Amino acid sequence: MIRIGALVSGGGTNLQAILDAIDRGDIDGKVVAVVSSKDGAYALERAEKRGIENTVMLKKDYPSPEDYDRALADYFEERSIDLIVYAGFMLILGEGFVNRFKNRMINIHPALIPSFCGKGYYGLHVHEAVLKAGVKVTGATVHFVTAECDAGPIILQKAVEVLDDDTPETLQRRVMEQAEWIIYPEAVKLFAEGRLSIENGIVKRR
Ligand code: GAR
Repeated sequence: MIRIGALVSGGGTNLQAILDAIDRGDIDGKVVAVVSSKDGAYALERAEKRGIENTVMLKKDYPSPEDYDRALADYFEERSIDLIVYAGFMLILGEGFVNRFKNRMINIHPALIPSFCGKGYYGLHVHEAVLKAGVKVTGATVHFVTAECDAGPIILQKAVEVLDDDTPETLQRRVMEQAEWIIYPEAVKLFAEGRLSIENGIVKRR
């Protein structure tokens, strides 16, 4: 059974999808720690309700970004975490964090990478950009986290139709329901079963 740590900033519906998959017996793992970058994130309540250790770590409380990265990495390391899931986590962490959990961190992004990703593309902004561009298909991507934002090896993707009368909110909801909440637990399951490897920056699934 793998020990999972989660980084959250908001509602935590992706964390919930992973917890539900664990309950169904789909994932041989346990979420043992949840850290939020924001006060009052509903994701913390989801953790609390299930008796999962949870805490808030605010970047502004640390003297430098490097200190914040170190504190977060120490927190997860002290809890012997096998996999860190970024579940609606809105901060970009530096090498001080990323290098300590290489190939053991995954993220869900609400678009089909390499489109609509990178700095500034997060949450609703992604869907606003998709609608502005007029593309007819969008989706979600699960990928390994590297120091470069949204550029790590891709694990799973799923496409979702864009409708003419979509608002950023309706599109966000459809992408979550039809893609994110399906492929994120699936990717965690593949990781937990040791079925993912990375060859020359490309993920191979067994
Ligand atoms: C989700 O759509 C997630 O893909 C996105 O924010 C939303 C958070 O939802 N994440 C990012 O944009 C990360 N760069 P949640 O808190 O309900 O899981």
